[in-house]
Amino acid sequence: MEQIQFKLKERKSNVVLPETLGFGKIFTDHMFEMDYSEKIGWHNPTIKPVDELTVHPASMFIHYGQAVFEGLKAFKQESGDIVIFRPDKHFKRLNNSSRRICIPEIDVDFALEALNKLINIDKEWIPGKHGDSLYIRPFIYGMDPFLGVKPSKTYKFVILLSPVGAYYPEGFKPVKILVTDEYVRAVRKGLGDCKTPANYAASLLAGEQAIKHGYTQVLWLDGVEQKYIEEVGTMNIFINLKNEIVTPKLNGSILPGVTRRSVIELLKEWNMNIVERDITIDEVVQSYDNGNLLGVFGTGTAAIISSVGWLTYKNKQMVINDGKPGELALKLFEELTSIHYGLKEDIHNWLTPVEQKEVVTS
Ligand code: COI
Repeated sequence: MEQIQFKLKERKSNVVLPETLGFGKIFTDHMFEMDYSEKIGWHNPTIKPVDELTVHPASMFIHYGQAVFEGLKAFKQESGDIVIFRPDKHFKRLNNSSRRICIPEIDVDFALEALNKLINIDKEWIPGKHGDSLYIRPFIYGMDPFLGVKPSKTYKFVILLSPVGAYYPEGFKPVKILVTDEYVRAVRKGLGDCKTPANYAASLLAGEQAIKHGYTQVLWLDGVEQKYIEEVGTMNIFINLKNEIVTPKLNGSILPGVTRRSVIELLKEWNMNIVERDITIDEVVQSYDNGNLLGVFGTGTAAIISSVGWLTYKNKQMVINDGKPGELALKLFEELTSIHYGLKEDIHNWLTPVEQKEVVTS
């Protein structure tokens, strides 16, 4: 791969971040960009000021959704160290998503190196407050100006950086969830296990309707029978029962979440009975009725752990743990964030340090 080119912006003043960042509204000064053509492969890697992308109105991703993305986070620790949470897993998943929709794969090591340089250049933008972080959004889209349906021959890969706070305005407060059997997010053998815009587009209407009825998000059931639980909002889901903790097994329509994987690893270490299996919504309701449902929570990069306080299915309204965060959800949140911010030793090697040094730009 050729050397990264640098076209850096002259920063005139220090970066001042607002007290409350929200999620995904603020962007750093620079982005990484790289092009693909059949003849050359991936080329022209460049770090340049964040600017609009120029696309032809016939660009294939606009019409046929040939695009993939990732979401990962970097954290500033009290020592001043900057670390990224499991970036290799995210870039490998990006390649898995790409394969499913005929996008050429990227070189994971090169992407990590490019990210390292980009973060170094924009490190002033990383918030220092506990709970805040730098959200990293890599994405790839098919660019051919062509209206026939087939894979594009040209692509762009971009990495964008955004200082963020809590994903849900509720913060760690439990969310209100409506179980939808009217819409599905994904079907097995479809795109559900890929991070591609189509899945998120499919989720919008149900999400909006839930919000209109006073909920935060929806719980998704399987695409065939609407019987088995799959995900919650944009997150993987865990059901804490008296004798086991259940998360739906990866069946092709569920995203293999990096936080999901980390939570499973932690629960195993804590000798808890974590089981990956199919679980029906009826079993969740029955467990609630029998007093066996201790907690429900979502896991994802953006919110990390999100406790479900209220769950409504058809006419059944379930108040979980009196609408308070479950003990296990809290423990997991504390553990993961303590690792993120360096308050606990990273015994799993989940953190990749950003090598902080002056980037040679010429
Ligand atoms: C996550 O939970 O990390 C997500 O996938 C949310 C993101 C699409 C904003």
